[in-house]
Amino acid sequence: MEASVLLNPERRMLKVMQEKAGEWGLEEILKSCNWSDQAIAVGAGHGLSNKGFVSTNEQITQTVKLATEGIKAASEGLLEARLWNWIESSDEASMSGLQSAFERHEAGPGVGLLKRLGVQLQEGHFQAEDPTSVRAAIAKRSAFIEALPCLVSDANPEMLEHFKTRRGLIEVVEQTTRSWSITESGMAVQAAHLEEKVAVAEITTELLQSEDWMDAEYRAFDVTLESSTPPTGRSHPMQALIERVRAIFLEMGFSELVDDYVQTAGWNMDALFIPQDHPAREMQDTFYLENPASISLPDELVSAWGDIHEHGGTTGSVGWGGAFSKATSERALLRTHTTVNTIQYLAENPQDACRVFSVDRVFRKEAIDRTHLPEFHQIEGIIMEEGANLQMLVTTLKTFYAKMGYPEVRVRPAYFPYTEPSLEIEVKWRGKWLELGGAGIFRPEVTEPLGISTPVLAWGMGLERLAMLVLGLDDIRQLYISDLDWLRNQPIL
Ligand code: PHE
Repeated sequence: MEASVLLNPERRMLKVMQEKAGEWGLEEILKSCNWSDQAIAVGAGHGLSNKGFVSTNEQITQTVKLATEGIKAASEGLLEARLWNWIESSDEASMSGLQSAFERHEAGPGVGLLKRLGVQLQEGHFQAEDPTSVRAAIAKRSAFIEALPCLVSDANPEMLEHFKTRRGLIEVVEQTTRSWSITESGMAVQAAHLEEKVAVAEITTELLQSEDWMDAEYRAFDVTLESSTPPTGRSHPMQALIERVRAIFLEMGFSELVDDYVQTAGWNMDALFIPQDHPAREMQDTFYLENPASISLPDELVSAWGDIHEHGGTTGSVGWGGAFSKATSERALLRTHTTVNTIQYLAENPQDACRVFSVDRVFRKEAIDRTHLPEFHQIEGIIMEEGANLQMLVTTLKTFYAKMGYPEVRVRPAYFPYTEPSLEIEVKWRGKWLELGGAGIFRPEVTEPLGISTPVLAWGMGLERLAMLVLGLDDIRQLYISDLDWLRNQPIL
């Protein structure tokens, strides 16, 4: 073993030990090395032992000591001794007398102790069959307590077992005693190797500019020690999730659509064949704007929607009936779903096959609670393609969720005014099915007025709901309260 890898305390200890062969006890080492901390000596001895320069002799001793109750008993007397004295010195050793002479926490266990010693109530008085043996038993116990501390090996085994069963009177403490003796290879280490050197813990400019660094000894870093992670900037988990969703759709051949959230009821609802008297259109469900309160729409468009809504236009549908209102159609609002954007994209590109997605904010007048926010995000998408069908829609959604890490997905029949068939998408999470969004194939009442003749698959899913799954949240509000501690500790998606 190389003597040059010795640490300073090891050098000092070995140097001292080279002066004398044979056993060195801890006290002797501490004194000779001028240390006050036992841990340094034990550590240095351990290191020297590992390197083969000393041999360590370890002895474990077990000592019986007084515990908290025992310390009290040693000065005041054991409870049974005090009880017995009281019984012998009072003429009325009754239960009520005992209860007034001793505190409750002593009286209760005391009666049990006496009983086991053969002292019981007889005709209302505590009495022993054989007072001499009671006195002897108590004296033996008291003597044991008074003689503590002692080595376990020296203790009366019967008494030791007895006191081990009683709370707080004694404790058995283990102690390791070490001694060291120098080995031949320890003796052979040259004095030059035992010179203590100043270990450099920090490299400074001064050190590098001087020549000292050449002979300096450097303190090694222990890279296995635990350390705190310095807080650094990072994406908000919602932003990270959006990036992830975006990456998945791009990878699946989709293009991203980004558009305004200020929209007309016409595009948000009428174009999607949502009847003008639908409850979701009410003030209490939708944020309508005051400025602008309305946005004008081309006459041809409004009248095409009017035809569809009133009697189904040329689609063969019977429509919703009633009278369609242009003013209702032109009311300005904050979009309630991102379908308002995909439908406009289709209106502008009615003939070209496409795959388009968006991840964007929508607004609904919801009361805030554990699972609802008035402002949230939707993951929207459409596929327009010759031959597109329900099977393809389901496969696309399943592929998306599988890439997100949720392989178990199912669809159930649902209803939306603008799709037929319509589906609800559910994902299995912690053993339960959770609804994450809607999907379907656009109805002719939606596609025909816009000149679309190819089938269009469409879906819209909640992003915050998905975030709750990904991040394991019970409360959706956690995402937006800017809880720095929580944010710093989120997994990197
Ligand atoms: N827009 C619907 C919603 O907000 C979801 C959906 C989109 C349903 C497209 C069918 C087709 O819940």
